[in-house]
Amino acid sequence: MNSTIRTTLCAALVAATATVAHAQQPFDGLKDAYEGFFKMGVAVNQRNIADSLQSALLVQNYNSITAENDMKPEPTEPSEGNFRWDAADRIANFCRKNGLRMRGHCLVWHNQIGRWMFEGENGQATKEELLQRMRRHIHAIVSRYRDVVYCWDVVNEAITDDPRADNPYRPSTLYQIAGEEFIEKAFVYAHEADPDALLFYNDYNETDPVKCERICQMVERMKARGIPIHGIGMQGHYNIHYPDSALLEAAINNYRRVVDHIHVTELDIRANREKGGQLQFSRTVEADVDSLDALLTAQYTRVFDVFRRHADVIDCVTFWNLSDRDSWLGADNYATPFDTQYQPKPAYYGIRDWR
Ligand code: XIL
Repeated sequence: MNSTIRTTLCAALVAATATVAHAQQPFDGLKDAYEGFFKMGVAVNQRNIADSLQSALLVQNYNSITAENDMKPEPTEPSEGNFRWDAADRIANFCRKNGLRMRGHCLVWHNQIGRWMFEGENGQATKEELLQRMRRHIHAIVSRYRDVVYCWDVVNEAITDDPRADNPYRPSTLYQIAGEEFIEKAFVYAHEADPDALLFYNDYNETDPVKCERICQMVERMKARGIPIHGIGMQGHYNIHYPDSALLEAAINNYRRVVDHIHVTELDIRANREKGGQLQFSRTVEADVDSLDALLTAQYTRVFDVFRRHADVIDCVTFWNLSDRDSWLGADNYATPFDTQYQPKPAYYGIRDWR
């Protein structure tokens, strides 16, 4: 055999072996398909961790877990000093048992926070009262889960949705009482309680150029003042039409100039034109049902293409809910990679088998 033929045959053999090896070793789950890129995460409820099929799916596919509701301010401290840890403990213990790490969600938010935080003797609480209550809450929860939670969404959704507003901040009761200090202090308190945790500011509509710019400016101001903030959470409540790759990439490029860590924290893709984290939404499907799988797969594939290009700064991508059955948007929105029977949808394979 002359050497040219031998080289050609060898190359063909190597290629064939590689193909066979690839075919014989399908990825176990999403986390394996993205090893070396970023962690894959999911938000869970109590049923997900109690049911054996669902928990097997969790362990197979994900290596980062967020409690969908059970670590939020109100469920964990419904009235002052009255801490309720049962539900959060069950999720933390599931993660400890299975060697999974958690994203903590969330320490301060205008929703799902006890009204008591804002009440004072003669009406509204003073700034000092609010900050002291926040500090106690944050210290209690952050130190309780230090061993299993590697990062926290410290402040959730503090920037306004109104692009014309002069004030960049959401006019929440938190802001009315304490101004922007509530944001900075939350990070200071979280850092006191766990100096090792990565601390995130988390928001939705984060690909909107005006909101994105406002988030970047706020984070830059905080960093200039020495506030311990390490990352930006892009919630990622998208839909089958929005955002396009260019808009998504532009937002990531802005955030990466400001922080070293970006997490996609609440990814889901609706079957209509709605987006964002507002707690009101419709269940209408604005797509031909027969083409829904194709549209969903195309959009998931597009956003993951962009995420992979920025894997040097994106360290975790978390889906908001395990399946369409669990989705906070309702099953009709068809928003997650698993159907209501916990079977993988075409979108799942689109995300997983990208190589
Ligand atoms: C949602 C939960 O999924 C729902 O079960 C709950 O009723 C309301 O909150 N942005 C966030 C999440 O940061 O905490 C929200 O989760 C979805 C929007």
